[in-house]
Amino acid sequence: MPSLVSQPQKALRGQVTIPGDKSISHRALMLAALAVGESRISGLLEGEDVLSTALAMRAMGATLERIGDGEWVVRGVGVGGLCSPDNIIDMGNSGTSTRLLMGLIASHDITVIMTGDASLRSRPMGRVTNPLSDIGAQIDAHEGKYLPAAIKGTHTPLPLDYTPPMASAQVKSAVLLAGLNTPGLTRVREKVATRDHTERMLSAMGAEITVEQQEGVRVVSLVGQPELQPITLEVPGDISSCAFLLVATSIVPGSDVTIMRVGMNPLRTGIVDALKAMGADIELLNERELGGEPVADLRVRSAQLKGVTELPVDPSTMIDEFPVLFCAAAVAEGISRFTGLEELRVKESDRLAVMAAGLKANGVELTEFEDGIEIVGCGNKVPGGGTVETFLDHRIAMSFAVLGQVAHKPIIIDDAAPIQTSFPTFIDLMTGLGAGLMVGGA
Ligand code: S3P
Repeated sequence: MPSLVSQPQKALRGQVTIPGDKSISHRALMLAALAVGESRISGLLEGEDVLSTALAMRAMGATLERIGDGEWVVRGVGVGGLCSPDNIIDMGNSGTSTRLLMGLIASHDITVIMTGDASLRSRPMGRVTNPLSDIGAQIDAHEGKYLPAAIKGTHTPLPLDYTPPMASAQVKSAVLLAGLNTPGLTRVREKVATRDHTERMLSAMGAEITVEQQEGVRVVSLVGQPELQPITLEVPGDISSCAFLLVATSIVPGSDVTIMRVGMNPLRTGIVDALKAMGADIELLNERELGGEPVADLRVRSAQLKGVTELPVDPSTMIDEFPVLFCAAAVAEGISRFTGLEELRVKESDRLAVMAAGLKANGVELTEFEDGIEIVGCGNKVPGGGTVETFLDHRIAMSFAVLGQVAHKPIIIDDAAPIQTSFPTFIDLMTGLGAGLMVGGA
């Protein structure tokens, strides 16, 4: 368990490229593995979570190879062509791999036993196993709702018309992916729109998929059993990883960083609007399309942030970015209040409780609610000097690595290893820009 010490060093300056989008990378491997023919994917995130998806798709019969220059070549088995793995599959820390794959497995006549690390084994799976049971899959999960779980797909799946009870792209995608090998029309009705990478990629691969608005509800309809065409895809940079750079550059005085080819899917860009509402100086340059997704280069310069009590964005458009936004609020002038965030309690860790504990340990005043948090901004530097427990959560580790850049005393992060799940180049990239980060230091 290598610790990480974060302390101020220099202003952050430079131009960087961040790793590929995690959500798009998972979907690219899964859907390419179901296409008929050979897909080529570049810019894939090669973090542990996505590698868990690659291992699982291989175990179920697809051929996935990384060739010389970082490009991935995937030969698919066709929709309906997955086979039972000959061993348990370990999804590591990855909730997205687990939940989306459960969807794929549900409508294939195969049996898969899945497990994961301590964090993943404590995350609720009922949100996907419930609708997938209605399709006809038999799922035997630990205590009815946790990993390890045995999923026995059905060879006679029923198409669902499903309204998820919570805003979740993973639940939506699990149902849609189950619909791929299901005859007839599968529908998901979203009361709150969530990231639409699954819909975009299925459409690009030739599936018949439509999206309509019906009285404020977003209705996604997929015609089952398409022949998916292979794709050639360049994965855009991950806006969720970019968020750490946006906050770090905003709060460290004198900083100026440009982040290249960042995915700007409108259902993911809440963090940019939230930071702008707090006074951040973020400029979008060279807006264009890449692999069916909008992208831009983002230039950010340091600015005095101010607290915000009503966010101008829907939380689902920045659900993974709240931990680092809380750090921005801790450095801002004035009070910030964030509510409607009960979903943060079921992420890789209970992000409301774990962020509250880490911030308090570093001298930040706050009040935690059941569905949110109120943070008293320090107006400049935070006291620091505390140790943060990360609970196997990559975003907790990176958020406090950012906050340490403006702390009076160093912040110690107990475990840097989880960073590998989503942003393996984080520490090198940050130190290259001027940040003071030391692995295993004290
Ligand atoms: C993801 C959806 C979100 C997000 C996760 C990735 C996806 O989860 O937190 O990191 O790729 O679909 P929920 O669907 O549970 O909100």
